[in-house]
Amino acid sequence: MATAIVLGATGILGREIVKELGRKPDQWKTVHALSRSKKDECPSNVVHHHIDLTTSAEEMAKELKDVRGEYVFFAAYLQKDTEQENWNVNGDMLESFLKALEITGAVRSIKRVILVTGAKQYGVHLGQPKNPQLESDPWLRDARWPPNFYYRQQDILKDFCAKHTNISWVVTYPNDVIGFATGNFMNLVSGLGIYAAVSKEMGRDLIFPGSDTFYTKFDSFTCSKLHARFCEWAALEPKAANQAFNVVNGDVQSWQDMWPRVAQRFGMKVKADQFLGESELAERTTLDTPPLSLVASEIGLEGKVLPSRLEQRISLVKWSQMDEVKQSWNRLAEREGLQKEALEKATWAFVDFVLGRSFDIVISMSKAREMGWTGYYDTWRALTDVFGELEAAKVLPKSQ
Ligand SMILES: NC(=O)c1ccc[n+]([C@@H]2O[C@H](COP(=O)([O-])OP(=O)(O)OC[C@H]3O[C@@H](n4cnc5c(N)ncnc54)[C@H](OP(=O)(O)O)[C@@H]3O)[C@@H](O)[C@H]2O)c1
Repeated sequence: MATAIVLGATGILGREIVKELGRKPDQWKTVHALSRSKKDECPSNVVHHHIDLTTSAEEMAKELKDVRGEYVFFAAYLQKDTEQENWNVNGDMLESFLKALEITGAVRSIKRVILVTGAKQYGVHLGQPKNPQLESDPWLRDARWPPNFYYRQQDILKDFCAKHTNISWVVTYPNDVIGFATGNFMNLVSGLGIYAAVSKEMGRDLIFPGSDTFYTKFDSFTCSKLHARFCEWAALEPKAANQAFNVVNGDVQSWQDMWPRVAQRFGMKVKADQFLGESELAERTTLDTPPLSLVASEIGLEGKVLPSRLEQRISLVKWSQMDEVKQSWNRLAEREGLQKEALEKATWAFVDFVLGRSFDIVISMSKAREMGWTGYYDTWRALTDVFGELEAAKVLPKSQ
């Protein structure tokens, strides 16, 4: 029987890792779930501990004195205003935590550390990447691009494992996560659901708020439940040692297929001419240095890589501030007994970003499949599952 330590236990990705291991007490004897807050009840094999990863390693060591585990899953995340601050805080959190494990001696029990990062590895936030994205693609390290805290975290982890040669590492790269969480930093589905529910309350047809270009392009999504299963597989699979892996659902989806289904799910229809005419809430940003430019000469695209665009037909950041929207939400929340603060807490800038890109994101799962990973999750099913969880949690109104 194995033991685990999960950091970020209340987050959109960490919470599912705790759930996945927590439902197998025959395999996972003890799962230490660590975060500042405690949001869920724990099954018998899960013990929650408070930890503040922004404190010193010495302080953390005091909170970790009873925590031992063979497999560490690091899915903690703090979001700051600039990439430099993200680099500092997220790198420091991992570094201090690993140092705290050395102080307590827990390091001696550890076999593998699984670090959760994401597809920003490929600069999907900076413009058009090379498609498909492969784990062997070059890192965007030079001065053209802002600091990327995933790179610092991976370097920290690799140095730690080089020092402790009995410990191996795994890194995961999920993208556009479809999962359940409340009060977290990047939450696509609760934003989408609230937008649809309020549009319905306002008596409108459903309009895709993102980019009309992206509407017919491809994205690769990650179901948080599938990601949790992947993390367990990667922890235990000998071949996965010291490897980084893309983790996406295994289908390639597009909003042209899912948006009409979202409308139907909420008892609405898509506005037939949703992309025609001017929109007062539109936003447009240029991304000057797309990651594709790094390899342009090598792959024969020199002179052909243009700046990328982020464009919102309806900026949800602006939309969520409108009096009419707030009033409609308050009315709906009152009538249906919903969590009133959900509108304000939704991560509108993140949803704007995910729907506003103007380029395909196709992420390859070949590397993991070659090693025997067979997991798959239909993206539409993942989306409807989470809408259901949000209904149960009173973030969204009942669909029927
Ligand atoms: N969400 C997405 O769509 C997405 C997509 C691709 C990649 N990723 C990446 O996945 C990783 C995990 O992100 P996530 O989205 O799962 O994060 P999240 O949902 O925002 O959760 C963050 C977790 O970190 C914990 N945490 C934050 N500050 C802490 C502190 N000072 N001490 C201890 N725990 C702390 C939080 O718990 P408490 O607040 O209770 O402490 C929470 O459990 C990140 O690298 C992120 O960039 C996310």
